[in-house]
Amino acid sequence: MGPIGIFDSGYGGLTILADIQARLPQYDYLYLGDNARAPYGTRSFDVVYEFTLQAVKELFDRGCELVILACNTASAKALRSIQQKDLPLMAPNKRVLGVIRPSTEIIGELSESKVIGVLATQGTVKSNSYEIEINKFSPEAKVVQHACPLWVPLIENNEHTSTDGKAFIKKDVEALLAKDPNLDSIVLGCTHYPVVKEYIESIVPKDVKIIAQGKIVAESLADYLDRHSKMEERCSKKGTIRFLTSENTEEFDENASVYLDQKVRSEHVSLG
Ligand code: DGL
Repeated sequence: MGPIGIFDSGYGGLTILADIQARLPQYDYLYLGDNARAPYGTRSFDVVYEFTLQAVKELFDRGCELVILACNTASAKALRSIQQKDLPLMAPNKRVLGVIRPSTEIIGELSESKVIGVLATQGTVKSNSYEIEINKFSPEAKVVQHACPLWVPLIENNEHTSTDGKAFIKKDVEALLAKDPNLDSIVLGCTHYPVVKEYIESIVPKDVKIIAQGKIVAESLADYLDRHSKMEERCSKKGTIRFLTSENTEEFDENASVYLDQKVRSEHVSLG
């Protein structure tokens, strides 16, 4: 038995952890942020895959039976290879799940016009994962995407509320809206972006819905554990959370409070 591992390149996955913990408080969680090597969004496919695999191995070594890649970039670029190539050899009974599939399964239902916008990192947009996955479940949907390479660095450095930070965010949101006048919903396809959800809501037309992934991923995990009782039994249940970061722990503990409404005491981990 072990905790559920939650991985992100940095702090973004904490937005997912918050919703997962609220929905499934009985389980133990081990969060790993690769802050020393964030952001992942502008890195190549091979590098994101290599870094993500190192993180997954670390979480497995620390007892996790199930790991959630709470990072869209890692889900887009590394999940499939890890599931198909690495897991069967490395840990056939363990599981790694991502955040793109649960979101794309239900997004079609949330849009009336069936024109869906996606804001994400460069890596996620380039992978085209959102368009491919949304069209599997909603073939009639049109997906328009816009990459926001500056948002993760802005958010990680707590600059997203500054005048300049807001101006960058606004410019990207307007660039997405300009791609199709019928767009009625925008998916925040990066786990860092819920931090700026309220600001985005304040600058888009009233009828445009902003969709964050946390609650969707939490519901999907609850459903997964319901359907996979053997895995569920292997998830320990003392209601604890531990945090690992590949960067400075004091900085992590301080910044984590922007994403998570609780006191954080992280431990350092070396990856790679
Ligand atoms: N939170 C990650 C995601 O969902 C950010 C990726 C990055 O580090 O650029 O894509």
